[in-house]
Amino acid sequence: MSTNGHKWNPMGYDDHAHYVYKLGEPLIALLSPTESENILDLGCGHGELTLRLMEFECNVTGIDSSAEMVQAANENGVSAVVMKAQELTFNNEFDGIISNAAIHWMTDIDKVLEGCFRSLKPGGRFVGEFGGEGNVGRIVNATAKYFENHPELGEFSVPWYFPSVEDFADDLEDAGFYIEYMELIDRPTPLPTGIKGWIITFFHGLMSGFTEEQKESFINEVSEMLKPELYNKDTGWHADYVRLRFKALK
Ligand code: BEZ
Repeated sequence: MSTNGHKWNPMGYDDHAHYVYKLGEPLIALLSPTESENILDLGCGHGELTLRLMEFECNVTGIDSSAEMVQAANENGVSAVVMKAQELTFNNEFDGIISNAAIHWMTDIDKVLEGCFRSLKPGGRFVGEFGGEGNVGRIVNATAKYFENHPELGEFSVPWYFPSVEDFADDLEDAGFYIEYMELIDRPTPLPTGIKGWIITFFHGLMSGFTEEQKESFINEVSEMLKPELYNKDTGWHADYVRLRFKALK
């Protein structure tokens, strides 16, 4: 799932972060799609959630900024197109918009929400779940500390949008939405490939200018820093996820 032009490897994302799809199921209940409705999946990735929505016999369109993801979605039988979330071209077309684990990647949230509002029919539902305030806070803090100890890497700035309930509610209302439900949910999440797999997947962009040696040092040192907080010898690694889940109406 990507909406900022970041290059994704759909297979790599699947190995390291497959849980994001499974955890998207409550959103479907929140949307409660019905037959023949037009639904937009915003940041559809390779279309696993989109496929689940198609089981309700609604017409689902996926968009994602990653050509690799859209190709994978199309190969999975999903109708998806490459489009940036901040440049939606739809007008009064959808009964519902759903977005799972994508909004935190989006760079111009005002434009995204404006476009979502425009894309919905009057009364249309917008449901979503993404990283909220404090999401992966321990990982962010360890990374900031690593950068402080390695000034040659420059300054670290958090590459995601993890708003508070208040800030996101303001943003939705500014775009014209009525908020029906919004909640921050603490969700410690097991990491199937450990913290190193997570770092390689989610800090891919951050590490893109690093040498191989710098990458190795970053991955190893940040993992060591996090071990006392995020590793348990019986249950393995988990990430300190905090989700913001919402439902808003046009
Ligand atoms: C998340 O799904 O919570 C997430 C995604 C990218 C970076 C950090 C967290």
